[in-house]
Amino acid sequence: MPLFPPAASTFALHTDALFWWLLGLSVVFATVPAVLAYYWAIKYRRGARVDRSNPLTASSRLEAVWILGLTGLSLITFLWAAVPYIRYRSPPADALEITAVGLQWMWKFQHPTGRSEINELHVPLGRPVRLLLTSQDVIHAVKIPAFRLTIDAIPGTYTTLWFQATRPGTYHLFCAEYCGTGHSQMVGSVTVMEAVHYQAWLAAGQAEQPLERAGFELFRQLGCSGCHVQGAGELAPPLEGLFGRPVKLADGRTVIADEAYIRDSILLPQRDLVAGFEPIMPTYQGVVSEEELLQLVAYIRSLSREEGP
Ligand code: CUA
Repeated sequence: MPLFPPAASTFALHTDALFWWLLGLSVVFATVPAVLAYYWAIKYRRGARVDRSNPLTASSRLEAVWILGLTGLSLITFLWAAVPYIRYRSPPADALEITAVGLQWMWKFQHPTGRSEINELHVPLGRPVRLLLTSQDVIHAVKIPAFRLTIDAIPGTYTTLWFQATRPGTYHLFCAEYCGTGHSQMVGSVTVMEAVHYQAWLAAGQAEQPLERAGFELFRQLGCSGCHVQGAGELAPPLEGLFGRPVKLADGRTVIADEAYIRDSILLPQRDLVAGFEPIMPTYQGVVSEEELLQLVAYIRSLSREEGP
């Protein structure tokens, strides 16, 4: 399609169709009233000899058609946009996990094997990929036009979405949120490779530690393992099998132990205190970096995979 970026993800065509639908609606609702207004203004201009008897002042039928028609069109647009929005945010369980940290002014990506890259992202063809995203300073946003994908990277929390690339090639990667002087330089590329080439590319990385392994090392270095261990009595909740499960908190709330919860528990341990435990955990704010947090999260999540049903 001329004027359009290449369509290289499973969501691209759907998003384009929605774009055309919205554009079509806008054109119809801008053109029809304008044309009628000019037509009637000329037809009924002063001095023109036209029938001016029985002017129509109200029509319930017209009102009903107008109201129901617009409501119907709005609901169609809402569903058309909401259904893929939900799909975008519900990654398949087997999705490949890539973490991303935005900072002034670059993107850092890390693959499950530990291979990391800056301002470049390599992804396999035809496989769901989930991005787990955060920022080290201000709000940034990953934008990959060829995938029709935009998502904010927000300091202090995680955002996530997934995509599946459908066409090999190299595509633009932008930061889509004004983030300071270097915003326009915060660009890069996404390379979609055949799955075997991606595996080879991963293997060619320097001997880096897989994310969860690095998280485990950190877990011991920081002393977390002293309390968070089965058999440590009532000191701290055990982390095995925790990820993805509901957690009862001391104030009666129940939350799901997702990435954001684990992150908060490391940085703000007093906020979501687990029921039955003393508030003795110190905060690790300023002690661990965003990348280290992602490693810890990966490690804690891996504890549930091994223990899973
Ligand atoms: Cu980062 Cu704009």
